[in-house]
Amino acid sequence: MCGVIGYVGSKPCARLIFDGLKRLEYRGYDSAGIAVLDTENGPAKIELVKAEGKLIHLEPHLGELPQKATMGMGHTRWATHGAPTARNAHPHLHGDLVIIHNGIIENYRELKEQLMKSGVEFKSDTDTEVVLHQLHAELDRTKDLKAAIMATVKHLRGAYALGIIYAREPGQMYVVKQGSPVVLGAGDGENFFGSDALALLPHTNRAVFLMDGEFARLTADKIEVWDFSGQPLRREPAVLNWSAASADKQGYKHYMLKEIHEQPAVMSSMMSRLLDLKANGFVEKETGLDALDLGRIKNVAIVACGTAHYAGQIGRYMIEEFTRLPANVELASEFRYRNPCIDSSTLVIAVSQSGETADTLACVKHAAAQGCQVMSICNVRFSSIPRASQAVLYMEAGPEVGVASTKAFTAMVLSFYIVALAMGVKRGKVDPGRLEKSFDAMRRLPALVDRAVNAAGVIEEIAHKIYEAQNMLFIGRGPSFPVATEGALKLKEVSYIHAEGYAGGELKHGPIALVDRHMPVVSIAPRDSTYEKMISNIEEVRARQGRIIGVGDIGDERFQSICEHYIPCPQVGDDHLQAILSVIPLQLLAYYAADMRGTDVDQPRNLAKSVTVE
Ligand code: M6R
Repeated sequence: MCGVIGYVGSKPCARLIFDGLKRLEYRGYDSAGIAVLDTENGPAKIELVKAEGKLIHLEPHLGELPQKATMGMGHTRWATHGAPTARNAHPHLHGDLVIIHNGIIENYRELKEQLMKSGVEFKSDTDTEVVLHQLHAELDRTKDLKAAIMATVKHLRGAYALGIIYAREPGQMYVVKQGSPVVLGAGDGENFFGSDALALLPHTNRAVFLMDGEFARLTADKIEVWDFSGQPLRREPAVLNWSAASADKQGYKHYMLKEIHEQPAVMSSMMSRLLDLKANGFVEKETGLDALDLGRIKNVAIVACGTAHYAGQIGRYMIEEFTRLPANVELASEFRYRNPCIDSSTLVIAVSQSGETADTLACVKHAAAQGCQVMSICNVRFSSIPRASQAVLYMEAGPEVGVASTKAFTAMVLSFYIVALAMGVKRGKVDPGRLEKSFDAMRRLPALVDRAVNAAGVIEEIAHKIYEAQNMLFIGRGPSFPVATEGALKLKEVSYIHAEGYAGGELKHGPIALVDRHMPVVSIAPRDSTYEKMISNIEEVRARQGRIIGVGDIGDERFQSICEHYIPCPQVGDDHLQAILSVIPLQLLAYYAADMRGTDVDQPRNLAKSVTVE
């Protein structure tokens, strides 16, 4: 949720840290702050600036920091404990000690009470400040920061990625990881840490991934890593294959629009990496299936949050269709806290763009502990969820910066299609004719996605007609039902128009009461096996004067004739893959409606890109 970044080297660091925070701002934008170590004017001293709200409010204060400082760290906050004010902004300073934190300290109340009893005065309402004072108390006792960190973590319950600087030990900073993501960047005569690799990419593509229960000391020339008991660990940097440019807007007004337009390229690069398109085969190592014991699987449980959950719903249909294994899909935040019937015959598939979503990660750990085989479908390499999984399919869709997930959704749907098909072939449930048909459809897909993305003009016009609506409904059946729920999520998160997605057949069981002449109802009805039923459902809406915005096949005059507006989609010739083509107009509709309403499209209010707290 929050973004953290740190630098130690020989360059002036205030602006460098600020620029790094800009790359992390999608993780939280309630407040921001930077602390640097001033070693120029007498004994080393920590100087810091903070501001409420987005980073733009911090920028004017950069000049207040010592301009020659070459070590420091910054934070952009998504508030959990304490209002989003400057007072609660990080870094938190006490004497010579300063810390930043991403995560939640679950036992902060009891620690705070104990610390207050011993005379500590708190300056903020955050959970983080207890870590600062606990660490300070341990430092008083041990007189050694490394020892104090090891003593402090014994008191903490919850999730934390901490950055720590102690003015009396200049030239070095500490990074501590338990449950929240943090990456170390290995440079030349300089070292970094950040919440994710994106922030480090302009400086280095060599990353060291800390594991939970580990901490590191960074100086300009060295990265040392220990576990919480003080045992030294060897960590070789991994080389990242994302470029800094891939995380830029590249001329688009917003990241969301850029990422929508990247979808044709993402589809074709995924297919060339995961498939042998000439031989209708699969590259098993890349699909992750080679790491599984497929013969053991008797049922499949898919876990994910938000958009990834909707992709998982389509994935469930595909798995049932191709493998004939029973499959379920569930919100990770629910799955973890009930007592699901899973065992060593269960394949758990965790889906996550970031690979860091705390609820999904908790499910992965829980499932592994139950003896399940765990596979993940993720975008960000080396992130926590793939690292905790037995098998991984990396989507390699490139950095997704817009808070609203777009290209990751279609990449997840394609990933499921490939995994389900490959598993089905292995289980002998897919005959050669079906396989040929599926590969033909996949070969057609990138060009059709390109057509869908480039129909933006039609959708912009429709957005003009609906952007002032207060409520909207989205309906679909079969794979178009999760598409409807994803379309509604996209619209509400970026435009703040209240929207709900329903299965077409479910409308008459309640939600149809909402329909009147003011209600736009986006109806997704490709000519698949549910088409006739969907047309009946749409007629039911029309009979109550609902405003139908149809998403259907090119040339479907019958459907078009009952719509107020119609968005023609190219047909790919496969009911499941069609979901990819149906969702693109909904992404564009949400984008244009939001832009017309003047919202902050890439950083909608109250949201963060990577939800690393449960
Ligand atoms: O990184 P993940 O895919 O695990 O994230 C899951 C959700 O937080 C994410 O899809 C969220 O719902 C997006 N804002 C949707 O656009």
